[in-house]
Amino acid sequence: MNQNELKLRERVKELNCLYKLSRIAWEANNDVDAIIQKTLDILPDAMQLPDLAEACISIGTRNYSTKGFKKATVLITGDLALHKKKFGAVKVGYRRSSSGKGFLAEERNLVKTVAQELSLLVHRVSIEDDKRKLQIQLQHAERLAFVGELSAGIAHELNEPLGRVLGFAQLIKKAGSLNEQQAEDLERIIKASLYSREIIKKLMIFSRQMPQQVARVNLNTVVENILYFIDVRFQGRNIRITKSLDPSLPVILADEVQMSQVLVNLITNAVFAMPRGGIIKIVTKVKGQSVALIVKDTGSGMTPEIRKKIFEPFFTTKPVGQGTGLGLSVVHGIVDSHKGQILVNTTPGKGTSFEIRLPRQLKRK
Ligand SMILES: Nc1ncnc2c1ncn2[C@@H]1O[C@H](COP(=O)(O)OP(=O)(O)OP(=O)(O)O)[C@@H](O)[C@H]1O
Ligand SMILES: [Mg+2]
Repeated sequence: MNQNELKLRERVKELNCLYKLSRIAWEANNDVDAIIQKTLDILPDAMQLPDLAEACISIGTRNYSTKGFKKATVLITGDLALHKKKFGAVKVGYRRSSSGKGFLAEERNLVKTVAQELSLLVHRVSIEDDKRKLQIQLQHAERLAFVGELSAGIAHELNEPLGRVLGFAQLIKKAGSLNEQQAEDLERIIKASLYSREIIKKLMIFSRQMPQQVARVNLNTVVENILYFIDVRFQGRNIRITKSLDPSLPVILADEVQMSQVLVNLITNAVFAMPRGGIIKIVTKVKGQSVALIVKDTGSGMTPEIRKKIFEPFFTTKPVGQGTGLGLSVVHGIVDSHKGQILVNTTPGKGTSFEIRLPRQLKRK
């Protein structure tokens, strides 16, 4: 092959590479990972010695490379950058330099061009990714708000008739003159009504229908009080509760009883997630303009599918009869009405942390 033919062949390979890259850019549903993986696949073929060529693309702390890249010695690099700020690099190298061939100027240019195109592409897709995530979050929030309205309606409608069932049952009980079987049945009616009332109460908290008693509260005191009662219950379950409370935690305006409910629900869930024991860590600290209460466990963690649903009323993974699936709905309702935020961090098999952030100064509506 003469020199011109060789050059032409290289040129065709380069153009082919750029063409494939533009195809990747137009393919729908590519996320950043897919784009990088596909770019890695096409890069070596554009080089003079495709069989010896290896490539690596790094973005921030993420590194993607072809199998033999570690063995590559001679390297050419193109920066991934946006508005002159570097955020990664494209590297191409040969596994063996013994062939004596270095890289052609054209190849250097190609890697630079690929890096430039990739920078724009990654930037565009990241923006789209963020937009998609935000949309999902919004849909989720809307769904919760809708369920909230629905449960508020149901709770309201059922509350009154249930009150009457309970009231009349208690009147009959007071009147006496029932035989043993009747008294037993009546007791069942009362028990079932009380249970239903508890559920209605939880639904009302979730949908923010419960009146609040807002006062100055120190979350450290809430933690100490709850632990005093709870510690005994978990003895013998192989569960250790540790705490790290910030002594300079500012007092916040909140409903103390509700704050205790939040903590009890989170601790109960943590205990349930650790059937073979583990550690629950409770932390309070200041985070900017917020006060944070963190409950962290070393339990089962959650899959993304479960994680998505945990705040929905009646969602539970517990066996039938063991949980109502209202614990976290109550937590959500309370934190929401305190204008706070809940951050969840979970890894299946490793554990979960719930972080409740409440504003230092709660502004009343
Ligand atoms: N710390 C945790 N670790 C792992 N999974 C958790 C944790 N906390 C909550 N979950 C998951 O979220 C689900 C919903 O929790 P939630 O507290 O709302 O209801 P529940 O605990 O199932 O029932 P209830 O609180 O009424 O007894 C749980 O069934 C569980 O699957
Ligand atoms: Mg629970």
